[in-house]
Amino acid sequence: MEFMKLDFEYSDDVTVINEEQFKAHMRLYEGYVNIMNEIDCKLATFENFDEANATYSEYRGLKRGETFALNGVILHEFYFENIGEGENTPEETVQEYLAKNFGSFEAWKEHFIATAKVSRGWVILCYDVRSDRFRNISLDAHDLGNIALSVPILVLDMYEHAYFLQYKDNKEEYINNFMKNIDWSIDFNLKPGYIMGLIGPNGAGKTTLIQTILGLYQCQEGNIKICGFDLSQEEKQAKDQLGFILDDNIFLDHLNGSENAKLYGKYYSNWNPTVFQKLCKQFEVNLLKPLKKLSKGNKTKFQLAFALSHGAKLLVFDEPAAGLDPVFRKELLEIMSDIIFQGDKSIIFSTHLTDELDKIADYITFLLNGKQIFSLSKDEMEEQYRLVKG
Ligand SMILES: [Fe+2]
Repeated sequence: MEFMKLDFEYSDDVTVINEEQFKAHMRLYEGYVNIMNEIDCKLATFENFDEANATYSEYRGLKRGETFALNGVILHEFYFENIGEGENTPEETVQEYLAKNFGSFEAWKEHFIATAKVSRGWVILCYDVRSDRFRNISLDAHDLGNIALSVPILVLDMYEHAYFLQYKDNKEEYINNFMKNIDWSIDFNLKPGYIMGLIGPNGAGKTTLIQTILGLYQCQEGNIKICGFDLSQEEKQAKDQLGFILDDNIFLDHLNGSENAKLYGKYYSNWNPTVFQKLCKQFEVNLLKPLKKLSKGNKTKFQLAFALSHGAKLLVFDEPAAGLDPVFRKELLEIMSDIIFQGDKSIIFSTHLTDELDKIADYITFLLNGKQIFSLSKDEMEEQYRLVKG
């Protein structure tokens, strides 16, 4: 994968850093992107493995540079995305979650500021996956101090190059201004042809988010657009685009597949019984048995065939592989990949099984109490883990 420099625009409304400081910092970030591509290129064509040596060798230089430059790219991108315009506090639910780990939201802030003061490189609010908690961590260099299996949420650059042009040695003012101008919100659009996996700690709201997408619950804030249709304003058109495969089967258990399809198919403008029959045959689903007599795997396939027979463009899977045997789980992942391969559909699925995410998700979205905290592309996610493996 070639690294591309992301275009962060300077805005006069941003008060943390001025234009001169911003532009100088962007040039430095661009340097990391370029060097990362150079390192990857050299690693891909490297042949002289016999000279590899821990005291000094070209290969050692490349390996040291790989983690350093890659973190340089990733952390700068988080940092520039985190800089906001004026007061912006996280959602109440995020504040509550931070309060759980730090005593209160204000206490978290105090910790974060103190961590920034002691850091020579980066301060990161991260989610420590292993302990299922948030931590403020300090990195003295890009490749020094990161936690294995942690995901950055909020990143502050504490290298002198980040503030010295503007703030000189007044580090404290830089930190205080940053704290007042954090952009906690993240916009994300899932494009056709991609799969997004939802992860989060237990109780993070994966099911709630999916149910919100399905329109089962009223969205308290924000709105949901599916293929351009507003779920609250244009419900029928929006729901035509949606297919869902839920852990709790919502079809009538005492009816067979054909009867259920006839009953529910009429609610969709583009329902196609011929496609449905064909898919059930392909998935080997017996349409004459009551659903309650089908195996869990076949019930899942039935729901999938139904969703694909009314032209759904967004398929929502809630814990699709939970309770399924490994053979069917593998088959299901292959079916999901085939659907995406057609290029006009997207999939969102929730899971706690990270091996599935590794295999098929293009994006990972991290949720807390139904709120989207961040989304990463799978490549970015893999790089995070490669840092700790490499
Ligand atoms: Fe920097």
